Amino acid sequence: MKKVRRNKKSKKKIITIISVVLVLIIIIIGIILFVVNKINSSKINVILKDDLEVEINSKVKLLSFIDKIENGEVVSEDVEVDTSSLGTKSLEIELKNKDKKETYKFDINVVDTTAPVIEAEDNITINIDDEVDLVKYATVSDNSKEDIKVEIEGDYDLDKAGKYNLKYVAKDSSGNEVSYDFILNIVEDPNNRSFVTSKGFVAKVVDGVTYIDGVLIVNKTYSLPEEYGSGLTINTTNAFNSMQKDASKEGLNLYISSGYRSYYTQKTLYNNYVARDGVANADTYSARAGHSEHQTGLAFDLNTIDESFANTKEGKWVSNNCYKYGLILRYPKGKDNITGYMYESWHLRYVGVELATKLYNNGNWITLEEYYGIDSKYS
Ligand code: DAL
Ligand code: ZN
Repeated sequence: MKKVRRNKKSKKKIITIISVVLVLIIIIIGIILFVVNKINSSKINVILKDDLEVEINSKVKLLSFIDKIENGEVVSEDVEVDTSSLGTKSLEIELKNKDKKETYKFDINVVDTTAPVIEAEDNITINIDDEVDLVKYATVSDNSKEDIKVEIEGDYDLDKAGKYNLKYVAKDSSGNEVSYDFILNIVEDPNNRSFVTSKGFVAKVVDGVTYIDGVLIVNKTYSLPEEYGSGLTINTTNAFNSMQKDASKEGLNLYISSGYRSYYTQKTLYNNYVARDGVANADTYSARAGHSEHQTGLAFDLNTIDESFANTKEGKWVSNNCYKYGLILRYPKGKDNITGYMYESWHLRYVGVELATKLYNNGNWITLEEYYGIDSKYS
């Protein structure tokens, strides 16, 4: 009887323990569920765009890769991404929601799928005697900014006049290739040809007149045909008139003392100087016939054609202001060996305001010879 009662008692105890354990388990599960739910409800979800590839050196913003942010927002500034090198690039953005802040990291791929661009002339005319490097007639650029060499495809013979159909070809390091068709004309006429200057400008000789970037070039190397020229050009006259008008507002008196000079006038002038001073001396201040800028109709001499002009009020004003009218001091001080002539403070040449401003160079004049990379020497 005693034993039965004890059994009953211990059974009750076991049931109680089980009940307590069950209740505890339920409580723990409840806590876990609560915490998991809490964690999930505070999770920030980032959905990236499908395309995470960008071209090298392209302008792209950090947040442009994000499609959506769920349950949060971006804290980071939308800065530009550095796309200057190929390959995988790790990016990160700062996120936040009401519960937390976090950093999200992702990778993008910088690729180069764009072919280089070749710029060249469709028709290149060179003289049969010219020593040319055809590669210099083309410039190539690429989004990768790498130094890409141009190659020429096709056969040609620089010693044989004729028309050659050739191609420039350029390839970047990612294998993107471009080609550019051009015709090479090798001609025997030195009066109609083109050549590349030491600064990489393409100069064109048309009927014996040399132009670089549309600017007529005359110096000891480049001459004009005898029949060229007929007076000052309209642009030159207009430039002088505006300059003269503005100068007179400052109480200054400018006048043209020598404008257009024909081939024959120049011939007489030069010969007179040679008779007086000898060839070597005359060549330092007077151009031979066919080599004077005065024959272009784009140049003129101001006031007294004399060294003293530089120190007059007019001379100083002209030196500092002529570029505003598209006029340059063609033979600046200290450039005798470059222009081939002594300093001529009175000799102005019309080139247009844009080029004149560059050549003025804040008072530190650059010559046409330096700018274009050409010589001024009699052959
Ligand atoms: N005095 C300049 C150089 C000319 O004769 O054209
Ligand atoms: Zn002159």
